[in-house]
Amino acid sequence: MVRFSNVSFGYEKDAIILNNISFCIETGTFFGIYGRSGSGKTTLAKLICGLLKPSAGSIEVSTKPLMVLQFPERQLFGKTVLEDVTYGPMNILKDREKARQKAQETLKKLGIEEDLFEKSPFSLSGGRKRLVALAGILAMEPEILVLDEPTAGLDAFGYDALCEILKKLNSEGRSIIVVSHDNELLDSLCTDSIGL
Ligand SMILES: Nc1ncnc2c1ncn2[C@@H]1O[C@H](COP(=O)(O)OP(=O)(O)OP(=O)(O)O)[C@@H](O)[C@H]1O
Ligand SMILES: [Mg+2]
Repeated sequence: MVRFSNVSFGYEKDAIILNNISFCIETGTFFGIYGRSGSGKTTLAKLICGLLKPSAGSIEVSTKPLMVLQFPERQLFGKTVLEDVTYGPMNILKDREKARQKAQETLKKLGIEEDLFEKSPFSLSGGRKRLVALAGILAMEPEILVLDEPTAGLDAFGYDALCEILKKLNSEGRSIIVVSHDNELLDSLCTDSIGL
């Protein structure tokens, strides 16, 4: 659950970007955030994840949401795919073997073949790079996942794969919150939304 109560936010005091916003995202909702460029979608997503603090009002979350930034593949860093994906769960589980197992399971779920695990993530195709970057977050098993323009720049294969994964995560009871320009995507997936 994510609840915004009379939230306002500005990066600078005299420039309010979000003005007195209230809404509630119930657990298990597939939620869309839409609006024109510059309307504050990314800002709202960062507020949900606690990466920004509201200037006024309050934000309540049932568990800590994790955010997938736009072009998450730009944050890949590992020497190998497996090393990259293990980093997140390692921070939570504090056990290298368990974290590796979780990373392997997650990669398999996303359809990343085992023979790619020891390859450099930078050697993969764009769509696979995105999936590997996503795996690093999913392996931490967030109950609330916020994605900023997750389909931007994906080819048709990557687009379909990502939609299927998000639907599956949602069907497992996770809250999925998607920022997107893509109304078709929002219409086909979301059960609730907010326009800025
Ligand atoms: N770090 C920052 N410091 C100051 N102003 C910012 C900062 N980040 C964003 N802004 C401004 O806040 C407003 C909302 O930006 P935001 O990135 O949230 O919009 P958006 O809806 O995600 O846009 P887009 O669709 O282009 O991604 C814009 O006017 C932007 O210029
Ligand atoms: Mg944005």
